[in-house]
Amino acid sequence: MTDDERTSPASRPQTDAAASGDASAAAVSRRELIGLAIGASATSLVVGAGAGVTGGAAYGQEQARRVTDAVAPAAGIHQPGITTPVQDHLHFASYDMMARTTRDDLAELLADWTYAATRMMRGLDVSASGAVGGSPEAPPDDTGEALGLPASNLTITFGFGPSLFDQRFGLEGPKPAGLERLPAFLGDDLDPLRSDGDLCIQACADDPQVAVHAIRNLSRIAFGRATIRWSQLGFGRTSKTTASQATPRNLFGYKDGTANILADDTAALDENVWVSVSEGPAWLAGGSYLVARRIAMLIETWDRTRLAEQDRVVGRDKANGAPLSGGDEFAAPDFAAVGAGGAPAIDPRSHVRLAHPDMNGGIRLLRRGYNFVDGTTDLGRLNAGLFFLSFQKSPDRYITVQKALATDAMGEYLRHVGSGLWAVPPAAPAGTSIGAGLLGA
Ligand code: HEM
Repeated sequence: MTDDERTSPASRPQTDAAASGDASAAAVSRRELIGLAIGASATSLVVGAGAGVTGGAAYGQEQARRVTDAVAPAAGIHQPGITTPVQDHLHFASYDMMARTTRDDLAELLADWTYAATRMMRGLDVSASGAVGGSPEAPPDDTGEALGLPASNLTITFGFGPSLFDQRFGLEGPKPAGLERLPAFLGDDLDPLRSDGDLCIQACADDPQVAVHAIRNLSRIAFGRATIRWSQLGFGRTSKTTASQATPRNLFGYKDGTANILADDTAALDENVWVSVSEGPAWLAGGSYLVARRIAMLIETWDRTRLAEQDRVVGRDKANGAPLSGGDEFAAPDFAAVGAGGAPAIDPRSHVRLAHPDMNGGIRLLRRGYNFVDGTTDLGRLNAGLFFLSFQKSPDRYITVQKALATDAMGEYLRHVGSGLWAVPPAAPAGTSIGAGLLGA
């Protein structure tokens, strides 16, 4: 962070209103709601920035800088965090708007989130006075645990859930036709407390502390307007979006992401991921739909399974990820190939065959999931699995593939315990906020 950035009064408008004492500003009611937690620090942000700088600010300038390298590349008209080379860590959060909040509250929240997210993705604190540059008499704007850490390729991706599009915010009109709660699938064992939500934020970074810092601070900024419904930490990517990234492994020990859509495959992205202008709605053009599934993996059962059976279930070789029909990892699977004893080389019920585009009308999903381990269950088993994330240009496309997996041999080792669907708007054009197209629709 440059000294200029730390001391510039480039704060969000409500902060300026606080400084100028403009009681008519819409932000005042929100500050009253937020109370001491944010309001006091927002005021201190401007005091600290403009006037004689306190000891805290001096410390901020000299010692407590963040390191603004490893900034994820801009993603143009699309939000970052979709085709961005998949980072190693995830903190994902789902939010509900609070009772009695208005469309103005929503617009203001999205503006505040956009401002803070843009700064954090550049490796900066959430505001100009940040963690240590404000008044020592007020809680800091930024919580501080990312001080000294690089941007770590942080990306922050926002989504709007089906439940946001109701009369509370006057959004019934622009609701996309397909944006409905995902249907029940065979074998679902969903926990409502780990499912759905008005809004979601996907924070991915190469340092877990940077991802957690992002969600923690965005949740704090939401105070009085939205509350966290549930969140999920993920370690270890289970996909890749560039050919130069090695294919990682999931907790079953298999290479995962081999056949994923890559960032430079613009034709496949247009065909499968981005909502086009003609598909609409207009506010979503250049955006996508995000599905999240918390999938518990029955690790102990899997670990007692013979290697040959594991390979049969997946349809690929555990060592090198090659399809069981032969070739290397990136060879196209040959579902007609015959193996030993005259049986199909790739089992008809294998995961790879049932999820393959050939079995699903050509549909491909851009997968971006993460391994998770949330300690142990009360039976002493690993509470672990795959936090599956995929981007696709319509919810139908996900539903088609998930339905095809109804007879998946892997299903015996899985339990889907959380679920959510969100529309992911395009990136905010400069000078606007995420979702401006929706709220202006
Ligand atoms: C814990 C659950 C899951 C595990 C462990 C898992 C594992 C794998 C593995 C090892 C592969 C082969 C490597 C690759 O091409 O990436 C694969 C492929 C794939 N999986 Fe999954 N998967 C899971 C859940 C799902 C779900 C829920 C879906 C979608 C509904 C899905 C869709 C796909 C697709 C589309 C492919 C690529 C198929 C191809 O084009 O060859 N997977 N998965």
